[in-house]
Amino acid sequence: MTKRLVIANWKMNGSLSLLADVDAAYRAEATVDVVVLPPAIYAKELVDRARGRYQVGIQNVSQHYAGAHTGEISASMAAEVGVSTALVGHSERRIDNDEDDAVIAAKCQQLILAGLMPVICVGETLAEREAGQAEARVQLQVNAQLECLRAATDIAIAYEPIWAIGTGKSASVDEAVVMHQSIRRVLQDIVPETAEEVRILYGGSVNGSNAQSLFSRREIQGVLVGGASLDTEQFAAIIRAARG
Ligand code: PGA
Repeated sequence: MTKRLVIANWKMNGSLSLLADVDAAYRAEATVDVVVLPPAIYAKELVDRARGRYQVGIQNVSQHYAGAHTGEISASMAAEVGVSTALVGHSERRIDNDEDDAVIAAKCQQLILAGLMPVICVGETLAEREAGQAEARVQLQVNAQLECLRAATDIAIAYEPIWAIGTGKSASVDEAVVMHQSIRRVLQDIVPETAEEVRILYGGSVNGSNAQSLFSRREIQGVLVGGASLDTEQFAAIIRAARG
């Protein structure tokens, strides 16, 4: 069975004291990879605390290798301090920072160059879903990362419908599964050799109560958790649900 992937995305939340709580509460399991994405300024501290018992990632990375890019963090710097993964294309960055598919592809390439696992976030707006365009939208976003998908051996895609993020209104398990199957078909089409190795995660109002039903479906190989990841008890419950 594919090892499941449970990711905590703290967004711009958390504190040094939350690092200590997390460290006491989380452990990777034989069948579950656990990754915590604190704000980047806390990443090194969390790596030191984790000592390999779970992984640490960051929520964003520069699309450039190095140089005059004030305020940015490069993929190689993240790798140097022991970070193992990063998100690219989160909808909050697509919206707040105008990141388009080309920028996301460049970030993804930087991660691969540095040996980090990219987690590519995709998802449709409510208007696109209501117009029956959800699958087409997500397929375009996946297709736009073709070069990255070709180059990577370790990569994940997180399907996060924008209307489900931070709203408490998760997609139904069936809605998530339909989209995961659609993403898998795109992968089989564009990267047939590695399509089955890509883990497809669901994100959007995942919590301790709905995680179990999400993990009841083999199409859902992991979850990307925002709000509920700030509550260590809930996040620990999600890890238990992933264990099966
Ligand atoms: P949420 O966020 O769990 O708070 O909906 C998910 C995400 O944005 O990754």
